[in-house]
Amino acid sequence: GPSAALIPAAGSGTRLGRGPKAFVEVAGQSLLARSVHALAPHVDEVLVALPAGTDLPAGLPARAIVGGETRQESVRRLLQATTAERVLVHDAARPFVPEQVVHALLEALADTGAATAALPVADTLVRAGTGQPGLDSGLWGDLVAREDLWAVQTPQAFARALLLAAHDQARSEGHAATDDAGLVARQGVRVRLVPGDARLFKVTTPGDLALAEALAAAWDG
Ligand code: CTP
Ligand code: MG
Repeated sequence: GPSAALIPAAGSGTRLGRGPKAFVEVAGQSLLARSVHALAPHVDEVLVALPAGTDLPAGLPARAIVGGETRQESVRRLLQATTAERVLVHDAARPFVPEQVVHALLEALADTGAATAALPVADTLVRAGTGQPGLDSGLWGDLVAREDLWAVQTPQAFARALLLAAHDQARSEGHAATDDAGLVARQGVRVRLVPGDARLFKVTTPGDLALAEALAAAWDG
């Protein structure tokens, strides 16, 4: 059946401090344009949620709607704006999307109806400050076993009906989530973890933007 890419791009980019983040450029191309161009070849249509009062830049193969107050609300509006059977949800703030990850997600989607890109955690993980009376951070607390831990990225792939039901349920319960796979998993649906890619990091801080500039040289060829 038909498929759509849903791109939440309606955030204000507070931590980056450069205005609405989707319009910030890396090596001459906006984060939004990079995300749209990466996903468009894989789907029938691309929908973007933008901040109120902003416009889709000319020439992008996408349709724009106005986003919500939260990422969760922006995605819910995107879901309501399409009838596609399958959706790929992807943060505009992750401008480098390897084609191989998209293919793996679409394959996994056929299995469970839900899949996300994720990376095994490589660093040692420690909880700060636990068991130290009077201190809640800054001291080594308990080690966290990292063997089973994955860092969740986007894109994430879903049967649209399944994700919409999860959003409606969360909304009616006032449950807030930072990610869509978590909402679906909360419904008892099995979510496949597909190997992501370090280059799928989210541009969040000024340091991330510097990293993106450096990576763009290799990515753009
Ligand atoms: N997003 C959205 N609608 C919102 C908030 C966020 O569509 N109301 C989108 C952002 O545009 C981004 C993605 O969700 O593509 C991930 O959010 P985040 O990295 O937190 O971006 P911002 O919210 O813009 O940044 P900040 O939290 O620093 O303000
Ligand atoms: Mg945010």
